[in-house]
Amino acid sequence: PHISQVLNVHDFETIAREILPPKALAYYSSAADDEVSLRENHNAYHRIFFNPRILVDVSEVDISTSMLGQDTSAPFYISATALAKLGHEDGEISIARGAGKENITQMISTLASCSFDDIVAGNVINGEQKSQWYQLYVNSDRALTETQVKHAEAKGMKGLFITVDAPSLGRRERDMKMTFDADVGVELDEDNDTTQGASKALSSFIDPSFSWADLKHIQSLTTLPIVIKGVQCKEDVIKAAEYGVQGVVLSNHGGRQLDFSRAPVEVLAEVMPVLKEKKLDDKIEVYVDGGIRRGTDIIKALCLGAKGVGLGRVFLYANSAYGEQGVRRACQLLKDEVAMNMRLLGVTKIEDLNESYLDTRSIMNR
Ligand code: FNR
Repeated sequence: PHISQVLNVHDFETIAREILPPKALAYYSSAADDEVSLRENHNAYHRIFFNPRILVDVSEVDISTSMLGQDTSAPFYISATALAKLGHEDGEISIARGAGKENITQMISTLASCSFDDIVAGNVINGEQKSQWYQLYVNSDRALTETQVKHAEAKGMKGLFITVDAPSLGRRERDMKMTFDADVGVELDEDNDTTQGASKALSSFIDPSFSWADLKHIQSLTTLPIVIKGVQCKEDVIKAAEYGVQGVVLSNHGGRQLDFSRAPVEVLAEVMPVLKEKKLDDKIEVYVDGGIRRGTDIIKALCLGAKGVGLGRVFLYANSAYGEQGVRRACQLLKDEVAMNMRLLGVTKIEDLNESYLDTRSIMNR
């Protein structure tokens, strides 16, 4: 279909399911075990309802905000996903271009299928370097990790996101039924198992021994803001704040890791009151990802206290279907939905969103 017929981000998934090679679809869409967390990530948003206010002047609505001290055009970002080339020949580079033109931040995966430097170059629009973050999987070769962190900082990344929910990669059985073609841009060692899908082939890149003690060392390598991605309970958010990191992403990796991990938006509702009570809510920014497909989902997370939200699969599907234009269209649809629904909610600025606009009874006290 012509891109103008794409009316919401679900449409990108429908189109991608038609056009993607089976291996790419299996890798992108699959989640761990019985995929309960995958579905729960969406379902949790469907249990939260709004308390809109009427007769507010909403002729001007501003959805711009900031993340890690940088201005951004809207309160969402493109989360790190590996292997964008499985779906589109321009891979992460067309995502970088689309994101840059929309002033939306792109998080670049350690396991991206295009070269890091090329993805950074793709985010330079009319001579201006836009905003990107580097997502780090800590490798058992710590010298490699050091090089990656220093290079990311030297190349102008605005944040370092360390993913911690994948000490080994979850079983994504639809993906495991496929063999992995090693020609998509990620360099594999000889002993990597390519007979059981992409996740398995990539799993040796991650060091399962990485722990809190090693975090200090990474903090010593860089002046970039550090965000821990994949935090799943309030105890760990507090610990992260005590370690002096600048942020956390509440995430279960889009349901691809521990099945029956909770929906991050529900964890968010539990975390924010505790952070406030401990006066840590000004010390650490809380992000959330997983299952976000609508402007209303984004608004709900913000009302609960998130600084911003990430989307993964949506941008893989949009990029696979239409490349850079698809990425731009996905950003525009989400921006329009956020603005439109803030108007209906009676709120004109992101910072004014708060819990009084929500009915959260069905996600609390469960
Ligand atoms: C991911 N995700 C991910 N996260 C990360 O830190 N590094 C990575 O390389 C990847 N790779 C990856 C590949 C694919 C195909 C998917 C679907 C996801 C997780 C990603 O950043 C994010 O947490 C989830 O995608 C959010 O869920 P939604 O938006 O896909 O529902």
